[in-house]
Amino acid sequence: MSRFQRLLASSIGAKVGMAVTGILLSFFVIGHLMGNLLVYQGRQAVNDYAAFLKGLGPWLWVVRAGLLSVFVLHIVLAIQLKRRNRAARTVGYAKDHVNVATVASRYMVLTGMCVLAFVLLHLAHFTLGWIDPATHAVTEKVIQGGVEIERHDVYQMVVAGFRQPVYVVIYVVAMVLLGTHLFHGLQSLFQTLGVRHPGYTPTIVRVCRLVAVALSAGYISIPVGVLLGLTGAEGAS
Ligand code: HEM
Repeated sequence: MSRFQRLLASSIGAKVGMAVTGILLSFFVIGHLMGNLLVYQGRQAVNDYAAFLKGLGPWLWVVRAGLLSVFVLHIVLAIQLKRRNRAARTVGYAKDHVNVATVASRYMVLTGMCVLAFVLLHLAHFTLGWIDPATHAVTEKVIQGGVEIERHDVYQMVVAGFRQPVYVVIYVVAMVLLGTHLFHGLQSLFQTLGVRHPGYTPTIVRVCRLVAVALSAGYISIPVGVLLGLTGAEGAS
């Protein structure tokens, strides 16, 4: 066992690992939201951005592999910590003695599993086109360097997807759960880092809530905005 594996196998190592992978995943969530908000700028902005990402070629696969590794590590460490906590608890809690930290960590497991289920569904929906193939298989013709090329019309896929209320409901529920997960995750991140003080803990909690609500609301605005016709006007019906 390497030193790194031994560190992750220790309780504090696993907690720090959860915190670090959580921070990296949060960066992805922020970056992905910024990319998605281009929908408010219209078809060209979204499709240029998608084409730029695709144009990264092998680098895109490096980023994808990194993201997947971080995601898997986050889940493995969560399972490890959960098992350890359960083993350490020789006597179960009395029914009326469930403390706040236990409730929060139960929420984390539940909301975390929902976010995982959402990501799998989301990949099948928008990346692989398995769920709604007709909506996924849309292209547009653009002139690039004087030559006409055909590229994936990501804007049209998103707009047509969210004109169907069933997907809007799924995404809104998932984004509320993501926000809850982020809120508790960010709070426990500060605890792991030892940032706990009666003077500034309430402010930290408020900032965590604000960040979680802002991210959740930013994502929710897209499906709801499309359904209500506030954005996506360029998309063909
Ligand atoms: C309203 C909410 C969201 C919208 C509109 C959206 C949109 C998209 C689109 C259009 C793609 C495919 C891009 C392409 O194939 O060119 C994509 C991929 C992806 N999304 Fe989202 N997304 C949303 C929320 C999320 C959330 C909350 C997460 C994570 C928690 C997430 C994780 C991913 C991942 C991992 C990919 C695959 C990236 C890749 O292909 O490398 N998405 N998303």
